[in-house]
Amino acid sequence: MIAALRRIRSEVLGINRRNHGYLFAYNPRARYRVVDDKQATKVALAAGGVRAPSLRHVCEAQWQVRRLAARLAAEREFVLKPARGAGGAGIVVVVGRRGDRFVKASGATLRARDLEAHACDVLAGAYSPGGRADRMLVEELVVPEPVLGAFSYRGVPDVRVLVFRGVPVLAMVRLPTRRSDGRANLHLGGVGVGVDLASGCTTFAIQAGHPVRVHPDLGRMLTGVAVPAWPEVLDLAVRAADAVGLGFLGVDVVLDERHGPLVLELNARPGLGIQMANRRGLRPLLERVARASLPVSAGERVALGRALAYDCGSSR
Ligand SMILES: Nc1ncnc2c1ncn2[C@@H]1O[C@H](COP(=O)(O)OP(=O)(O)O)[C@@H](O)[C@H]1O
Ligand SMILES: [Mg+2]
Repeated sequence: MIAALRRIRSEVLGINRRNHGYLFAYNPRARYRVVDDKQATKVALAAGGVRAPSLRHVCEAQWQVRRLAARLAAEREFVLKPARGAGGAGIVVVVGRRGDRFVKASGATLRARDLEAHACDVLAGAYSPGGRADRMLVEELVVPEPVLGAFSYRGVPDVRVLVFRGVPVLAMVRLPTRRSDGRANLHLGGVGVGVDLASGCTTFAIQAGHPVRVHPDLGRMLTGVAVPAWPEVLDLAVRAADAVGLGFLGVDVVLDERHGPLVLELNARPGLGIQMANRRGLRPLLERVARASLPVSAGERVALGRALAYDCGSSR
């Protein structure tokens, strides 16, 4: 046990090495613009033939807020999202209606005027870096398919795939909890569950940096779950990385009941907690991929990532 911990510690990628060795070296500065704006991301993904939840409306100016609210009054379910937001901030997931009120994932309700006030905050830059003016996106609600859906408390789980030079290197499922209010972000209280790249089965889980065995609200065992459509999830992640031209990024894939795997979001500065959820450091994997001569096709790069996971000993 102690030897294993020591080995993991020596293999873990820290934030400084991530920044200098990988972000700086492999992510061209001009490409950040595409992932830091969720509307621009959708355009790039569509151009690369990568499926994502559809964009219903975009609100760009305060004078459009009233009209948007009137449109939303006619819709049952949708998600409000600041185009330049991050970390789940400013996201409102509306899952239904009760009379003229909008019901959030948590069960709390909002009035039309609360949505208008929220839209005004988003436009004023309340959730964008440096408080710059922003746009508010209205996106189609993702309805999780039942396998991972059964492991999340009122929200959409996603699969974070870390892709380096177009090769998937680590993955984890992120599960919303009561605390995280419909969002799967780890720092909001979501649970991170490592996934063995080779088999697509869950391995270990963490919440707030500590190991957990069962979902805190649902009591279900988190390990040994086969993630549905696993090969498609990896294929989508790799093609999303190709579409935006970043060398080191986190791709968040959701599994929608009707549409199958969709790319929800891309992150050019992916967190490193994924290593803890997998009990596995990134450095040996990244060093192997950095030296490899890479196949051109997405399918072969997926196969390479899965072989490396196995090669470097996936369930040690
Ligand atoms: N279209 C959607 N349908 C349902 N839930 C969503 C949708 N978009 C986002 N969410 C929830 O909000 C979380 C954060 O959304 P995301 O697009 O990843 O933005 P952020 O950059 O803030 O992390 C997701 O992990 C998911 O749980
Ligand atoms: Mg996200």
